[in-house]
Amino acid sequence: MLFNQWLIDPFTGGSVKKQIKTELTVLLGIQYPIIGAPMFLVSYEALTIAVSEAGGLGMFPLPNYRSTADLEMALKTIRKATDRPIGVNIHLSGKFPWKEQFALCLDYGVTFFITSLGDPSLIITDVHKNGGLVFADVVSLKQGLRARERGVDGLVAVAAGAGGHGGTIPTLILVPYLKESTGLPVIAAGGISTGAQLAASLCLGACGAITGTRLLASVEAGISDAYKQAVIHTGPEGIVCTDRLTGNPASWIASSIEGTESGPEIGSRKWKDLWSAGQSVAQTNKIVAAGEIVQEMAQGCLEVLEATCRKTVEEFNQ
Ligand SMILES: Cc1cc2nc3c(=O)[nH]c(=O)nc-3n(C[C@H](O)[C@H](O)[C@H](O)COP(=O)(O)O)c2cc1C
Repeated sequence: MLFNQWLIDPFTGGSVKKQIKTELTVLLGIQYPIIGAPMFLVSYEALTIAVSEAGGLGMFPLPNYRSTADLEMALKTIRKATDRPIGVNIHLSGKFPWKEQFALCLDYGVTFFITSLGDPSLIITDVHKNGGLVFADVVSLKQGLRARERGVDGLVAVAAGAGGHGGTIPTLILVPYLKESTGLPVIAAGGISTGAQLAASLCLGACGAITGTRLLASVEAGISDAYKQAVIHTGPEGIVCTDRLTGNPASWIASSIEGTESGPEIGSRKWKDLWSAGQSVAQTNKIVAAGEIVQEMAQGCLEVLEATCRKTVEEFNQ
């Protein structure tokens, strides 16, 4: 019961009367430990706003905006719609104008950064000065230890079955492995799209979860209706993981990449017809508003935890 009391507090400030409190929600000032995945060519202003307004943390990847001017317009739109915390995924590589983009993000109060390329120590001091956090995407312990050496506040465990570029180790193994071996807070990513899956990741010791694939089938996802329809009509058997398009293992809707032997050029519009999604298409069956997905996951998580924690050892033994 202690676990239950610590995890679930009455929430007074929103339409839903509960919050799910973890180390991450306290540090970020959000209601639920649910992060809307930063997704290339998918997560733009509308999705970011919807997830943050629903009590999660909305995010987008900086490469979605080609110029600093485009990024500033997006940040202005987001800030007009919500003053809630938001996050960005930053690629700290010379191929991107990341220094200008990073400065702009700080100006617009971005408090959460996930690094997926390059050395996170380049931004940590400035982010901390602004009261923010830097987590690094990792798929292995080696990458986790390297990120810890560079001073990150936590890790995103990108597990097998995740949409986009995923790892090979299942969430059930990777989250506790990274947490125990590095001592850092860990966010689970890969296959978390329902309340029960969120509850499972918290039980593993994660301080939060990133959900990507399920949000592909949201009204606010910036993709074609054909892509959304493919996500809701494909089962996990229809997802393939291959490195042949980007050079790194990534998960795709198999039918969308049939006959494509290599990825188009960077910046080509052809990328819009190659549809990445993870195995949690299994739990993604209809297109709804992103806020509804966040609320449903949060409420489902609380219900599963309450029902499970209320059971006595005797009841489990019956
Ligand atoms: C279409 C798509 C694009 C993605 N693009 C990015 C990206 O640009 N940067 C990033 O850090 N992760 C990216 N990801 C990975 C997500 O941030 C997240 O880790 C993953 O979707 C979580 O697993 P799930 O899809 O099983 O929910 C992408 C995922 C998808 C499905």
